Amino acid sequence: MAETPPRTVPRTSATFTPEVMAEIRRAAATGIYDIRGAGAKRALPHLDDLLFLGASISRYPLEGYRERCGTEVVLGDRFASKPIRLKTPVTIAGMSFGSLSANAKEALGRGASLAGTSTTTGDGGMTPEERGHSQTLVYQYLPSRYGMNPDDLRRADAIEMVIGQGAKPGGGGMLLGQKITERVAGMRCLPPGIDQRSACRHPDWTGPDDLAIKLEELREITDWEKPIYVKVGASRPYYDTALAAKSGADVVVLDGMQGGTAATQDVFIEHVGIPTLAAIRPAVQALQDLGLHRKVQLVVSGGIRSGADVAKVLALGADAVAIGTAALIALGDNDPRWEAEYAALGTTAGAYDDWHEGKDPAGITTQDPELARRLDPVLGGRRLANFLAVMTLEAQTIARACGKSHLHNLEPEDLVALTIEAAAMAQVPLAGTDWIPGKAGL
Ligand SMILES: Cc1cc2nc3c(=O)[nH]c(=O)nc-3n(C[C@H](O)[C@H](O)[C@H](O)COP(=O)(O)O)c2cc1C
Repeated sequence: MAETPPRTVPRTSATFTPEVMAEIRRAAATGIYDIRGAGAKRALPHLDDLLFLGASISRYPLEGYRERCGTEVVLGDRFASKPIRLKTPVTIAGMSFGSLSANAKEALGRGASLAGTSTTTGDGGMTPEERGHSQTLVYQYLPSRYGMNPDDLRRADAIEMVIGQGAKPGGGGMLLGQKITERVAGMRCLPPGIDQRSACRHPDWTGPDDLAIKLEELREITDWEKPIYVKVGASRPYYDTALAAKSGADVVVLDGMQGGTAATQDVFIEHVGIPTLAAIRPAVQALQDLGLHRKVQLVVSGGIRSGADVAKVLALGADAVAIGTAALIALGDNDPRWEAEYAALGTTAGAYDDWHEGKDPAGITTQDPELARRLDPVLGGRRLANFLAVMTLEAQTIARACGKSHLHNLEPEDLVALTIEAAAMAQVPLAGTDWIPGKAGL
């Protein structure tokens, strides 16, 4: 009888991975759920699963240095008398003062303005730094109403009614006591040093009929001049987009589950909502079914990092994108030059996500004056503007290769998918086939 060979490799579990076990031990030791910033970290069907079909014989490319490829975008021309005109479809997403330092908010404004695009306030109101340095500033109107000021509605260039975020659709944000300085507390009319949990729903409306009334109220306050956006976290994008558009939104902002957050429960970030890739086509379909595609603009966010991502999102039918995390990285977030300090916090550059603790070595997700001083808003603004320019140029390069004279001429027909999941979600063929899962064959 043959001898059984000895087992030489200990087997680790694909279910109880080292990370899972570490979290069980952490929970057992503390009795507190894990809170963190940033977006979903696990692998999800993603824009990387799509590829462009560059032109060859059946399609005709445009010459990079001689033939124009437009990048400009108008947002909010459905009802607003003063729509937003941007040079690039890459905008800066709403990130709160409180979660971010005043210098970081100023740097975002400076960078966006240099690039000819907009930036957005966040939970906690508008700071003079960001208004002063943002050529085009979108003012968020949130369930919490923290920092809500009717004069700021009029000082803004557009208003974004936030219903939800991709990182936590159905939930509110958190700002923990260590980041609530006198200034942050004063703007929110709440005591300093005490944890704040933002409301998960608006206090004065419960459904689409009320939403329509609320949007009209905002239009009246701003003389029907400013575009009104409605931001939703991606969970039921077809119905949410349709209801936002029916309620009178000029722009729908759709934030997928890879979208960053300043702080919330890890379980929420990783298990609620649907991936950005899966959300876009149903939202576009809703607008098409209402005859409102390109009339109500669609801005998509959640895990967008490059010009390729921008081009893919636009090809799927969006009008513009918004970036949060990538903008913070451009400013210097998670930069390896602070590695020694990340290590002292028990993490490493690239993985640092304890943004709620306010100890960010890069001086971005903090209210500590010493740390915040590390970010030079002028330099940060320039870095962000460079990054936005690169994203725009990359998207243009791809559009030209597909023979398009404007980024908005990109279309699903320019794309194929690498996986069956991505093909089904993006409703484009699996590469090398004409098969779109869920659609009848040709
Ligand atoms: C630090 C930080 C703070 C944020 N604060 C807000 C906020 O106040 N209001 C809001 O609607 N979304 C907020 N968000 C979400 C962003 O607006 C946006 O939806 C998200 O960052 C997009 O995904 P991305 O980070 O992958 O680009 C925040 C995100 C981050 C990273």
